[in-house]
Amino acid sequence: MSSLILLFGNTGQLGQEVEKKLQSTGQNYVALARDRCDFTQPESLREAIAAYQPSVIINCAAYTAVDKAESDRQIAEIVNGSALRVIAREAEKINAFLLHISTDYVFDGHKNTPYEEGDRVNPINVYGSSKLAGEKEIQENCSRFLILRTSWVYGVYGKGNFVKTMLKLGAARAEIGVVADQIGSPTWTGDLANIITQIPPNLTGIYHYSNSGVASWYDFAVAIFEEAQQLNFPLKIERVIPITTAEYPTAAKRPVYSVLSCQKIASILESSPPHWRKSLRKMFVGVWSPNP
Ligand SMILES: NC(=O)c1ccc[n+]([C@@H]2O[C@H](COP(=O)([O-])OP(=O)(O)OC[C@H]3O[C@@H](n4cnc5c(N)ncnc54)[C@H](OP(=O)(O)O)[C@@H]3O)[C@@H](O)[C@H]2O)c1
Repeated sequence: MSSLILLFGNTGQLGQEVEKKLQSTGQNYVALARDRCDFTQPESLREAIAAYQPSVIINCAAYTAVDKAESDRQIAEIVNGSALRVIAREAEKINAFLLHISTDYVFDGHKNTPYEEGDRVNPINVYGSSKLAGEKEIQENCSRFLILRTSWVYGVYGKGNFVKTMLKLGAARAEIGVVADQIGSPTWTGDLANIITQIPPNLTGIYHYSNSGVASWYDFAVAIFEEAQQLNFPLKIERVIPITTAEYPTAAKRPVYSVLSCQKIASILESSPPHWRKSLRKMFVGVWSPNP
């Protein structure tokens, strides 16, 4: 029987980290980027899965532009929603295990204690509802799946994330305002990729995984500058000002509170996720330290 892993989304910030992990652990995998498998072209997905007959499919591809999705609903819904119906059905045909990444934005943020897997979903933006549609397609169309919801993802790869934006702004400006009334858990792609590549293919259902601890975007920004300063990253920033969501209007609404409870996966894997602050440091030291 084939033991091939098929990876989608390997050009994204998480997908690149997952591919690196698969390489370093010597796993048998093939990564197909958008030029081979475009999620808006279902036939390209069917053909690839039928041709490779993988035993595991890891999907890190997604339409992730949260604000742009508000005016680009159709594409977001295809890439995050209906493409997953195609993948799930193809996985079912060959009895493959489908490991898919989802988001804290399936929740509305009205809770004030960590969201558990069975909590009521109620997305408040197009991105969140398109990701929820993908979750449903998977649950309805294949039996061997694991949906891993995560939050506030950052890492060294990919086109952009909050850390990269802060470093760019911090290098150019003495003062910036950052939203302090949205609470979540920043999650490093390094930790997430470790978990993704460790998940046993007999585990099924929905699971949450984020780094532990909570932060506002303001807290996260302050921590980023602290780390960057320690490593002598060239910064002009002198003051980070906490602002409200109302002072920073965006096209998409965001949940006020989107902390995920990770107890379920932690008890199965017998290890708790590292604290976000510790992982942030690990990423900085790994990338920018002259003596890592
Ligand atoms: N970023 C976050 O804060 C966050 C939070 C919670 C959950 N997540 C979830 O985590 C997963 C990984 O996200 P990420 O941050 O790594 O995203 P990312 O850096 O934006 O990467 C997205 C990946 O999807 C691919 N993709 C987009 N449209 C495609 C299409 N039409 N056909 C084929 N591939 C396409 C991109 O390919 P190109 O390089 O060609 O564009 C890229 O490889 C996603 O499921 C996301 O929903 C992310």
